[in-house]
Amino acid sequence: MKVVIEDSYRALSRAAGVAVARNVRDKPDLVLGLATGSTPLGLYRELIRCHREEGLDFRHVTTFNLDEYVGLPVEHPQSYHAFMREHLFRHINVSPEKTYVPSGMCEDYVSYCRWYEDQIQAAGGIDLQILGIGRDGHIGFNEPGSSLGSRTRLKTLTAQTRKDNARFFESPEEVPRFAVTMGVATILDARQVLLLANGKKKAKAVARSLEGPVSSMWTASALQMHADTTAFLDHDAARKLAHLEYYDWVQQQSQGDN
Ligand code: PGA
Repeated sequence: MKVVIEDSYRALSRAAGVAVARNVRDKPDLVLGLATGSTPLGLYRELIRCHREEGLDFRHVTTFNLDEYVGLPVEHPQSYHAFMREHLFRHINVSPEKTYVPSGMCEDYVSYCRWYEDQIQAAGGIDLQILGIGRDGHIGFNEPGSSLGSRTRLKTLTAQTRKDNARFFESPEEVPRFAVTMGVATILDARQVLLLANGKKKAKAVARSLEGPVSSMWTASALQMHADTTAFLDHDAARKLAHLEYYDWVQQQSQGDN
């Protein structure tokens, strides 16, 4: 895995933004996997800037979001549909029919999740997947114990995740208990992965996932099995890594090791 450590959240967002923009320029019909949460906001601001100031064209890009809360209609302000509209889609020229966010309002999740996987396949597979990481090491909503072979499905959220996300809701009881999420194997199928993490509260999850054993207890650790993952970190998120000096050294050589 390539580990890039930047001085600030702004710098890591910019570095990840440069990588995504390069991919969109190289492949205008890129299939882009998107994440929600606080972490990718800076990256999305950077993409919006590239669109406005440099004409970065999203017209032919297809997007697939990782996850959605169960029980929140698309108009709900805390739904991930609303998040994506607010923080990215309405600011760029992506076609609404090419943006996929899982539905949290299904009757039959088994069929729906199969359909979601089929849409990813029909689009040619995800070229580039953007990920944040939870304090418990989750990617998407693949909570500890998730099968590393999992596909899009329903997951029950942990108490920690519901607590972490309670800040967005009026009361902790309002945080949904379930989510629909791409599986770990769905994520590993992406040709390229960018994992973003900033702040001290992510340091343990980053260290366990990047340097610990591959384990379903820290689902981001499955990325060690992925051939083209880059982790963009700030110093706070990187502080518990054992091989910091080596990552700095690799960065100085600009070789882009995986
Ligand atoms: P955050 O969430 O970006 O809001 O910290 C990340 C996650 O839970 O995956």
